[in-house]
Amino acid sequence: MHPLLSTLPKAELHIHIEGSLEPEMMVAMAQRNGIKLPYDSVEAVRAAYQFEHLQSFLDLYYAGAQVLQTEQDFYDLTWAYLQKCAAQQVRHTEIFFDPQTHTDRGIPFAVVHDGITQALREARSQLGISSGLILCFLRHLSAEAAMATLEEALPYQDSIIAVGLDSSELGHPPAKFQAVFNRARAEGFLTVAHAGEEGPPEYIWEAIRLLKVSRIDHGVRCVEDPALVEYLAEHQIPLTVCPLSNVKLCVFESMAQHNLKQLMDLGLCVTVNSDDPAYFGGYLGENFEAIAAALPLTPQHLVQLAQNSFKASFLSSAEQEAYLKEF
Ligand code: HPA
Ligand code: ZN
Repeated sequence: MHPLLSTLPKAELHIHIEGSLEPEMMVAMAQRNGIKLPYDSVEAVRAAYQFEHLQSFLDLYYAGAQVLQTEQDFYDLTWAYLQKCAAQQVRHTEIFFDPQTHTDRGIPFAVVHDGITQALREARSQLGISSGLILCFLRHLSAEAAMATLEEALPYQDSIIAVGLDSSELGHPPAKFQAVFNRARAEGFLTVAHAGEEGPPEYIWEAIRLLKVSRIDHGVRCVEDPALVEYLAEHQIPLTVCPLSNVKLCVFESMAQHNLKQLMDLGLCVTVNSDDPAYFGGYLGENFEAIAAALPLTPQHLVQLAQNSFKASFLSSAEQEAYLKEF
């Protein structure tokens, strides 16, 4: 391992908790919940993880999430991820969850929420890891369904800091969710959105102008629009970049071709994240190792990325300062 990486404190800002469901846990939960999976073994699940693009991943990701049934399942899923954080010097994490993936198959919102937040509370007291929770709307579903989900979340507002937008990007521009995001901001939520992963720079502009996001999730296609790059740099709108995800989903042909260093050298506030670690071959530590191995990054670049992760977080300035003092 790169010597710097074993000690660098980090925050993670782009992790879908359902994407941390390791094949071993998927098979165990299927068994305990009496659910039939289309795989014979853990090895068969792993072998299926060959993706051509975002949609081919999403198909398996939504199928895998069906094993999550009880509050205990959501707790176990989240706790396993938080233990990984503890092992990799991840001090703070802002976690996405996709309630519609669960409520649409009859799992109550409260079951999902209570399991996840119980693990987050224990991580705070037992592991010293701070956290936030971000509710993502599935953009392949309707704006009306997103609004209904937002309304379902209002009683839980104390434990949800922001709303986001994920799932199939192409054909589902941010504009589709303008009214939902207006309402979310009026209710006091911060906003983020996946944009510019597979979608064009125009979707990033829409996320900024129409959804008034604090961060762009992915955003790597911004380089196709120089005016957009200039805007992102001037306003230091963070990009939550996910290197292993981008290679697994063929956004870049190889890690050596990833534009993360180019984005940093253009003056953008870039952070490194794992996205769906169980599906893409690694957690935050492995993402840092992969970029350090494949790209001509200096130690200063790596430190900058780790510092950016706290600066781009939804922690208060005082909390950010406390973490940044550790550098
Ligand atoms: N993009 C869009 N939706 C997602 C992703 C992603 O990388 N991961 C989980 N849902
Ligand atoms: Zn994502």
